[in-house]
Amino acid sequence: MSSSNSRDIVLECRNLSHWFGAKKVLQDVNLQIGRGQIVALVGPSGSGKSTLLRAILGTHPPRAGEVRMDGVAFRSPHRDRGIVYQRYSLFPFLTAEENVAFGLKLDQTSLAHRCFSFFKWRALRSSHVEQAGRFLDRVGLSAAKGQYPSELSGGMCQRVAIAQALIMRPKLLLLDEPFGALDEATRESLQLMLLQLYEENVQAKERGEPALHTILIVTHELNEAIYVSNRVLGLSQYHETGQDGATIVYDKPAPIYRPNEPKDVSRFHEQKELLLRSVFSERHIQRHSEFVSFWDDHEKRVATGATFMNDPG
Ligand SMILES: Nc1ncnc2c1ncn2[C@@H]1O[C@H](COP(=O)(O)OP(=O)(O)OP(=O)(O)O)[C@@H](O)[C@H]1O
Ligand SMILES: [Mg+2]
Repeated sequence: MSSSNSRDIVLECRNLSHWFGAKKVLQDVNLQIGRGQIVALVGPSGSGKSTLLRAILGTHPPRAGEVRMDGVAFRSPHRDRGIVYQRYSLFPFLTAEENVAFGLKLDQTSLAHRCFSFFKWRALRSSHVEQAGRFLDRVGLSAAKGQYPSELSGGMCQRVAIAQALIMRPKLLLLDEPFGALDEATRESLQLMLLQLYEENVQAKERGEPALHTILIVTHELNEAIYVSNRVLGLSQYHETGQDGATIVYDKPAPIYRPNEPKDVSRFHEQKELLLRSVFSERHIQRHSEFVSFWDDHEKRVATGATFMNDPG
């Protein structure tokens, strides 16, 4: 992979490998995620998608290789990176709004601050609640701010969990099968919410500002991967040296959808077939870089002045 100044890279994995005892899980994973990209990660069950996310989160650093955020290698978690799992983990005794404000409260006020600077703390607290309200508006939950998790549906709780992660303004948001436990209709509405976040990136770009959201989402559902993302990565053990673990075997752009555009899954057919063959099929053993072309294509577009919306920055 050639490096270039035309890439505004938020996250990079360099020759990242991981194993548990004698079991090799990840082998030389190399990837770069550009600011403002919404990247979907797909792969067979057990290929190591969650292991890769944990390495990127920093809770389980890789056995070999490194992960870099804005060019700086790290081996521990940081608020720069947020994660939302399939099962939301909200505090049952806090309202939706208080749940969202909770991270800011922990981050910005100490107990001493709360006791000794009561009035300042109270002002800060109301600013946190006000910010939480705005984030709940953005995920379509304006009407549920005062409700407790037990009064919300699974889809609503998952929206709260996403607002909880977004309010910390992570440079990279990791989503590990965030909609996996939801019914089809709820899932669709949350997919639209992700398109809305991408729309916020487009609007920021139009204002000449940096993109607000960079997201890496793991999903089992190929239609979902292609629909919500602008780039699809495939992680798989099915490649020529696969006995040593999974690596990135597919990396291509996905069509961009705006929130008001009808979802036309027939457009996904060709890409799905290619994904099934190159990422999920034990029978089609390939050179692992055969379908890895996102950045090379990007360089070509930059060279001809033909950048498009998939391009970061
Ligand atoms: N703590 C652990 N100890 C031993 N083996 C582990 C551990 N965590 C994961 N593994 C193994 O590593 C492999 C990759 O697991 P991982 O959960 O990352 O896969 P995945 O791609 O997220 O799968 P799924 O799609 O089912 O969520 C699996 O074979 C799993 O059994
Ligand atoms: Mg997993």
